[in-house]
Amino acid sequence: MPALSAYPVSGLNGTVRVPGDKSVSHRSLMLAALAVGVTRIEGLLEGEDVLATAAAMRALGADVNRLDDGSWTVSGRGVGGLVEPSSVIDMGNAGTGVRLLMGLVATHPITCTFTGDASLSRRPMERVMTPLRRFGTVFTAREGGLLPITVKGAVNPVPIRAEMTVPSAQVKSAVLLAGLNTPGETSVIEKEATRDHTENMLRHFGAEIVTEPNPGGGVLIRLSGQPELTATDIIVPADISSAAFPIVAALITPGSDVTISAVGLNPLRAGLIDTLKDMGADLVVENMRTEGGEPVGDIRVRTSRLKGIDVPASRAPSMIDEYPVLSVAAAFAGGTTRMTGLAELRVKESDRLAAMVKGLTACGVTVRSGDDWMEVDGADRAPKGGCMIDVDLDHRIAMSFLVLGNAAEKPVAIDDAAAIATSFPGFADLMNAIGADIREEQA
Ligand code: S3P
Repeated sequence: MPALSAYPVSGLNGTVRVPGDKSVSHRSLMLAALAVGVTRIEGLLEGEDVLATAAAMRALGADVNRLDDGSWTVSGRGVGGLVEPSSVIDMGNAGTGVRLLMGLVATHPITCTFTGDASLSRRPMERVMTPLRRFGTVFTAREGGLLPITVKGAVNPVPIRAEMTVPSAQVKSAVLLAGLNTPGETSVIEKEATRDHTENMLRHFGAEIVTEPNPGGGVLIRLSGQPELTATDIIVPADISSAAFPIVAALITPGSDVTISAVGLNPLRAGLIDTLKDMGADLVVENMRTEGGEPVGDIRVRTSRLKGIDVPASRAPSMIDEYPVLSVAAAFAGGTTRMTGLAELRVKESDRLAAMVKGLTACGVTVRSGDDWMEVDGADRAPKGGCMIDVDLDHRIAMSFLVLGNAAEKPVAIDDAAAIATSFPGFADLMNAIGADIREEQA
């Protein structure tokens, strides 16, 4: 895949719509495949991760059709109706896809093998297998609990109450999805609330699911098993995790005024907005409305003089995917930005904490870090840039450094742009349409 370089530009201007939310897109295909009837999905993210989930749902027996850009239908098989796939399911780079699917098939009487790319094959899967085994599911994994993994689904699953040991919506969702084809009540206790798209969408399809305060702290989520899910229409909001790139780009590039329309603003996802405002960003959310059961708004952002702040660890679950690009914003701010509670960043598509420290340092930024924290010293002006970043199959690292390059003193290159298509197909074209200068470099 080509290397890309971002050259410094003088301003970004215009209105854009970024692709559909990745979390919502995966879940819409999965739940539609378990519903009775035909679900119509609008605004589906057609990135590689979600396309891998679409192919997986076909392999598991659902009828999945693309009608037009972002417009899909799924004819479901009913809860418990998934069939054994005839070959291995390759989930590519998709961590959410594979972890949620492991939950879905865990309580079907079928055997299913999942594999993935080099990045997915080094990510921890034990965190989902540990609770899922309690339903009666048997897993065969590579040493260390890594993919490829064969799931032998429980024939007579028993419901569980799972206490989350890591703040992970993927683990929570895997348990809830396994609970769907399990008689009785499956419940999850979360100490720290994580994105609740699975719960919202289960409710939207007619499942009985309740979230209440847990007597011992945190929240208790209770799902009644074996509901009949009814096909319904879904509108996927634009992904705030993708919007984060043009948002930060506009903040740090002089002379910018950009609006990103119809962005999903689920409060358990919107921590970046609060953080950037705390840093002094000129950012306003306009035209708040509800679309497809999720809050949505247009975000207008103008070049701002940012200041370094302490980002509270409690905010991490609501902006976990945004720390790479936040640390780019921090590099342009006046003063130090301290980010804590970042342990989960080490087990994303790459070790994002290490990747940001290494890349920012190469761009001339002073950074300090520990196991689960990072401090970025902003110099109140553009960093030097002028380097090549190894993105290690990580889409968000790739896009973060292209955003930095747009506003640095010298261009910034990434070694491999391929991963960007997992979540944000058309990223470079969209950015160039508002005034960025992202170019393919000839070898
Ligand atoms: C996701 C949950 C988060 C996030 C990922 C999407 C989801 O992962 O990083 O990009 O859709 O549930 P964790 O559950 O591992 O925190």
